[in-house]
Amino acid sequence: MEMSGEKMRTLEMKPLVSDLDYYAEAYRVYAGFSGQKLKTYQKWTDDVFIPTAVDKLHGSFQGAEEFRILGIGSGGGEIDVCLLERLSSRYPSITNTVIEPSTEAITRYTALLQEKEANLQGVKTHFKQTTIQEFCAETKKASTGDSRPKFHFIHAIQSLYYSDDLNGTIWDMFEMLEEGGAMLIILMTDDHVLYRMLDNFPFLVGQKTPSTTKLSSKDITKALEQLGLAYTSHTVNTRTEASSCFNPESEDGNKVLDFLTNTVRFRANAPPEICDKVLGFLRAICPSSVPDETTDEAREGVVGGEDKTQKKLLFIRDAQSVIVFRQGTHGALQKSAMKM
Ligand SMILES: C[S@@+](CC[C@H](N)C(=O)[O-])C[C@H]1O[C@@H](n2cnc3c(N)ncnc32)[C@H](O)[C@@H]1O
Repeated sequence: MEMSGEKMRTLEMKPLVSDLDYYAEAYRVYAGFSGQKLKTYQKWTDDVFIPTAVDKLHGSFQGAEEFRILGIGSGGGEIDVCLLERLSSRYPSITNTVIEPSTEAITRYTALLQEKEANLQGVKTHFKQTTIQEFCAETKKASTGDSRPKFHFIHAIQSLYYSDDLNGTIWDMFEMLEEGGAMLIILMTDDHVLYRMLDNFPFLVGQKTPSTTKLSSKDITKALEQLGLAYTSHTVNTRTEASSCFNPESEDGNKVLDFLTNTVRFRANAPPEICDKVLGFLRAICPSSVPDETTDEAREGVVGGEDKTQKKLLFIRDAQSVIVFRQGTHGALQKSAMKM
């Protein structure tokens, strides 16, 4: 059976991005922000983001009356809030503009801001329920060159997959930075389980509306090099437990599978032969570990309810963070890569 091209996506197999609220729910379960995953990002924030970006930004914008942030595709805001907590201790007044098309994600972000209010004094958040494409087109139309809205810090964390024109979007982000400002992009590496799935089954990538493209962090560094923008990069290694995806009774496992196949209720809607092939491939690319070798992080993953003495299947979920500063000399490419 041919496994490439749209042919394999039947009408019943709706791409996840065609229902952004269901997408937000599937992503919430997949991301597993309730536990160790968040700790990984908190550690990355302290070890990488603060020394590489915040300290430098503070040097440039100390005493700024208003520190302006733009978040692109922020989801439920878990990582944004992690960054905001660190930034709000340095800037008394922060305006946080968030571009997020999903209602469900905005509702969760709003609830999280209320929950964390005590740590976010001085932070005002404005949601723009729109896409990055629409936001860039509108801000370009409304202004020219230097009069475009400007931000001190712009981030797109695991969201540039939905940009139709990667180089154009990165350049738009760069253009909206204040001189001395920084942008942060995080994307999966090409070892990531999701990248490998989309690479092996191109029909899972889906059609262009709304757009999803198969991108990895290599595409970002390539784009930055083409645009002549210097960057620093850092790899965040993450493993999570995969077992629940192979248990058809697991509600959470099915949502993780939906996220990895970019398909709404994949198990129920995909023809059995496609389901078997996809699950077979998924199992084959999951490394396994005995429970004692399983990291805390993997244990915090979605639990499959299987025999605890059995080897555990793990998902590789490595990501790369890339930070770019807007400096007068940005044309001179000075790449400095940091690897964990
Ligand atoms: C993988 S989630 C990442 C969420 C969050 N940044 C995180 O890392 O936890 C991708 C987010 O991008 C949003 N999104 C989808 N299409 C978009 C677009 N065209 N422009 C901006 N955001 C988009 C989705 O609604 C979703 O919240």
